[in-house]
Amino acid sequence: MTRLSEENRTWQAIAREVAEKVVRPLAKKYDDAQEYPWEIQEAMAEAGLFGVWIPEHYGGSGKGERNVLNLCLVIEELSRACGGVGVLFAVNALGSFPILVAGTEEQKQEYLPKIAKGETLIAFCLSEKNAGSDAQGLRVRAIADGDGWSIHGEKKWTTNGGAANLYTVFAVTDPESRSRRISAFLVEKDDPGFSVGKVEDKMGIRCVPVVETVFDGVKVGRDRLLGGRPGSGFKHAMGTLDLARPGVAAQAMGLAQGAMELATRYAMQREQFGQPVSSFQMVQKMLADMAQKTEAARQLIYAAAEAIDHGDSSVNKLAALSKCFATDVAMQVTTDAVQIFGGYGFMRDYPIEKYMRDAKITQIYEGTNQIQRMVIARNLMKEAAQLHFLDEYIPTEEQRAFEG
Ligand code: CAA
Repeated sequence: MTRLSEENRTWQAIAREVAEKVVRPLAKKYDDAQEYPWEIQEAMAEAGLFGVWIPEHYGGSGKGERNVLNLCLVIEELSRACGGVGVLFAVNALGSFPILVAGTEEQKQEYLPKIAKGETLIAFCLSEKNAGSDAQGLRVRAIADGDGWSIHGEKKWTTNGGAANLYTVFAVTDPESRSRRISAFLVEKDDPGFSVGKVEDKMGIRCVPVVETVFDGVKVGRDRLLGGRPGSGFKHAMGTLDLARPGVAAQAMGLAQGAMELATRYAMQREQFGQPVSSFQMVQKMLADMAQKTEAARQLIYAAAEAIDHGDSSVNKLAALSKCFATDVAMQVTTDAVQIFGGYGFMRDYPIEKYMRDAKITQIYEGTNQIQRMVIARNLMKEAAQLHFLDEYIPTEEQRAFEG
C-alpha cells in the first residue's frame, strides 16, 4: 500500500480545496455551455497545480525528474468534482511530457516554465482520422523546407485544441523508413497555417474542447523539431503515453470516488418502504463493490506512478494495467451510482449522470482498453518467454500427440 509523503498530502489538499471551492460549483455551468472554464483555469494556475509534474529547475515544484504521483493525486481530486476539468488539466502533462523526456535544453527552458505557471496551455496531436489505435499509421507530413520544416495535414480529437497555445505534433518526416518514420514538432497557435477545424459536440468532458487541428503548410524553424533530430517521434509518443496513462486512470478513479460518495449519501437519505435504501442489503452490496473496485484502482495507480517516479525501467505494463483497470472500474461504478439514484439519476437536473457521461471516454482515449489489454498481454508473453523452468510442468508436444 502506498504511503503518501507530506508533500504528496499537501498537493492533494491544495487540489481538493480548488476542486470543492471552485470546480464543483461551476461544473454544471461549463458542462451545459460546452465552454472552456477560464475561471477554473485561473484558480488552478494560482494554486500552482500546473507545476506539480515539472521539475523545480524548469520552474515547477517537482522534487524529482518525474513527479507522476503528485500529478495523479491532483487529477484524482479535480475529477472527483468534474471529470472534464480533470482531463483539461491532465492533458497539459500529456502534451509536455515529450518536451521533458526528449526536448533539447533550449526547448525545456523555453516552454516548461510557462507551462508550469499555467500561462502556456499545451495539447498533444497524435491521432488522425485514419490513425487512432494504429498510431504508426499517421499521415501528417513534415517536409524539410529551407532551414526548417513545413507541416501539412490534419489531426483529429485534439483535446484542449483552441484553448491551448502550444501543440506537440507528430508527423512523418521519412516515409521510406520503418522505424524512424515519425518526428515530433512544437507548433505555436500563432504560427501561420495553423488553425482549428471542427469543434466536436461531445457526450462527456464537455468543458474541454476536442477539435480537429489543421496544418496548412505550417512553417517552423529547426528549433521546433523535438530533441533537434528527426526519426524518434514514435518512440517519444509511446514513452509519453507510458507516463501519462496513470493520469487517465486517476481521472477515472476520481470520477468513481466522486460518484460513490454522492450515491452513498443519497442512499442514506432516500427512504423507501419506510427506511433508507442504504439499509437494504442489495444497495449495500452495490456500495461495497464500488468501494472495493475504486480502492483497488487507487492502489494500482499509485504503484504505477511511484514506479515512474523512481525511474523503473519498464513501466509500460503497469501504466496499461492501471489505465485499463481504473477506467473499466469508473464505468461500472458511475453506472451503479446512477442506478442507486433511480429515476433522479437519469435526469440532467442532478450531477450524477454527468459522472457516467464523463467516465465513458476514459475507456477510449490515450489508447482504448482493447489496446491496453494488447500491451499487457505482450508484456506477459515477454516475461513468460524467460520462464524456461516451467516447461517441465506443462504438456510437451509429444505428450499432447500421444494423448490425441
Ligand atoms: N516506449 C518506447 N518505445 C516503444 C514503446 C514504449 N512504450 N512501445 C513501442 N515502442 C517502440 C518499439 O520498441 C518499436 O521500436 P523499433 O521499431 O525500433 O523496433 C516501435 O516503437 C514500434 O513498436 P510496436 O511494433 O510495438 O508498434 P505497433 O505499431 O505494434 O503499436 C501500440 C503499438 C501499442 C498499438 C501503439 O500504436 C499504441 O499505443 N496505440 C494507441 C495509440 C494511443 O494511445 N493514442 C492515444 C492518442 S492521445 C489521446 O487520446 C489524448 C487525448 O485526447 C486526451
